[in-house]
Amino acid sequence: MDSRPTVQFVRRLLTRNTDHDWQYYGAVDSYFGVLTREEYRAERLDDVARAALLATGERHNAAVFAAIHDHLDPSFSPKRVLDFGCGVGRLTLPLAKVCESVVGVDVSAGMLAEASRNAERCGLSNITFCQSDDSLSSVNGRFDLIHSFIVFQHIPRDRGERIVAGLLDRLEDGGIGVLQFTYAHSSLNPPSWPRRVLTMAYAKVPLIYAARNLAKGERVRRPPMQMNLYDLNRLIRLLQEHGCHEVHLRFTETSHYNSDVYGVILFFAKRQRDLSEGLHLEGADPASRSQT
Ligand SMILES: C[S@@+](CC[C@H](N)C(=O)[O-])C[C@H]1O[C@@H](n2cnc3c(N)ncnc32)[C@H](O)[C@@H]1O
Repeated sequence: MDSRPTVQFVRRLLTRNTDHDWQYYGAVDSYFGVLTREEYRAERLDDVARAALLATGERHNAAVFAAIHDHLDPSFSPKRVLDFGCGVGRLTLPLAKVCESVVGVDVSAGMLAEASRNAERCGLSNITFCQSDDSLSSVNGRFDLIHSFIVFQHIPRDRGERIVAGLLDRLEDGGIGVLQFTYAHSSLNPPSWPRRVLTMAYAKVPLIYAARNLAKGERVRRPPMQMNLYDLNRLIRLLQEHGCHEVHLRFTETSHYNSDVYGVILFFAKRQRDLSEGLHLEGADPASRSQT
């Protein structure tokens, strides 16, 4: 984190407490909070839509395991899994079908309650759901797989980085991480400057977003969903410093207020490598570092 007091002050001024927003979505519109499509709004949600949303999770997890097997570990089969920001359990439930136990954590009580109901509906008894905080104080033990998808983008960067460090601490040696982040606006379809200012105003001045909701016929109290961009340099450094030396990445793309936002899923194994092995970089030998 930047230690300059002025920078910290301005950051705090511009940082909304997103946890309150997610309490709202969990309590009022949990499925729409997970995937913002019209058919998942609370007033329209039926069993067909609920099943359709959960089915997207099965497909997602199949793709995640295919990528792990292809790029990191062909025989990977985790026993203990952590799903950070589990929402209604869309990705947690399929994970529970392929491992011994899963811990699903989320900051929103309403999301956790709905995720528990979904686990019960599916007859899955190997999932523990718990409320999250930034130090992951309710998350005990270590995991073979830590997973998080479309969650960090909704958490301000400084907080998110601290949570990532906590997750990496809880990953077993040899374990695998699958974490998704947004990192940049597209240069092809970026947000205009008025749009950037408006988005910032939405986050800071509740009345402005309430007025926007009124104009669009939305619930007045509905909070904005943030899209925070992470610094890939800083994330890669966290991985390197936690001994996660094997990394594969896959790009993602999403839309936010009609502009495109780029992201990555970082797939990594917590395996230390001899970093100079096979490479002949000047200064790579630790003994010569102090002279360079
Ligand atoms: C878009 S939903 C995605 C849910 C799930 N990962 C999925 O893909 O189905 C984002 C989730 O992140 C949770 N979340 C937001 N901020 C969080 C935080 N600081 N700690 C833990 N969970 C958080 C929200 O409550 C919400 O359930």
